[in-house]
Amino acid sequence: MHCHLIPGVDDGAADERTAKQMLQMEYADGVRRIIATPHYRRGMFETPMETILKQFKVLQDLAAQVADDLQVELGCEYHSHLEMTEAMLVHERPTLASSPYVLVEFSSRHTYRNLWNQVCSLQQEGFEPIIAHIERYPCLREHPERLHDLADQGIFLQVNAGSILGEDGMGVKRFCKRLLQEELIDFVASDAHDTDKRRPNLGKCAEYVTKKMGSNYAQQLFQKNPAKIGV
Ligand SMILES: [Fe+2]
Repeated sequence: MHCHLIPGVDDGAADERTAKQMLQMEYADGVRRIIATPHYRRGMFETPMETILKQFKVLQDLAAQVADDLQVELGCEYHSHLEMTEAMLVHERPTLASSPYVLVEFSSRHTYRNLWNQVCSLQQEGFEPIIAHIERYPCLREHPERLHDLADQGIFLQVNAGSILGEDGMGVKRFCKRLLQEELIDFVASDAHDTDKRRPNLGKCAEYVTKKMGSNYAQQLFQKNPAKIGV
């Protein structure tokens, strides 16, 4: 529910060959349903929807070549700005797989107040905000108690598989371990961008979480919660 597999629309898969390899890697990892979430960020990633839809069709065709039971749907990783809620209300960018879920990203400069106001504003309009890679933001890293407030408010929290596995350093790994132990995480995603440094890695992470936390929580994170994202 957070990955950059659509070829040529953002800083994810550079071409069709890479996109197909990434699909093959996801499939080998046990993934059967993928929501591709190209970046939208004002002034940085503003690929027209027409291009995204065209390239998404290409990704669907590639998925059909990889396996009959590999499903690909469309979403967006939306970088927060002041008019985001209004933009979502007029369908400027897609929600996750046509559901009420919206994947929202912040920058490390956003304050907690910015973040809180944004997710609450989305929620008031009927969206279900999911905060992308919560382990990245200083305003949450330095005040983990805020994650409980967000969870109590019904905001969903996503962590990257690589962060759980220690690919972003021991500090991030420790932080994620604590989040897992407190069962604060709702979604784990690959946030895959390529076949190398930021490759699909959900299989390895699911194995790790099962070993550390048991199969119940692992199933919730990797199967039950993602299954709720849909029409
Ligand atoms: Fe991403």
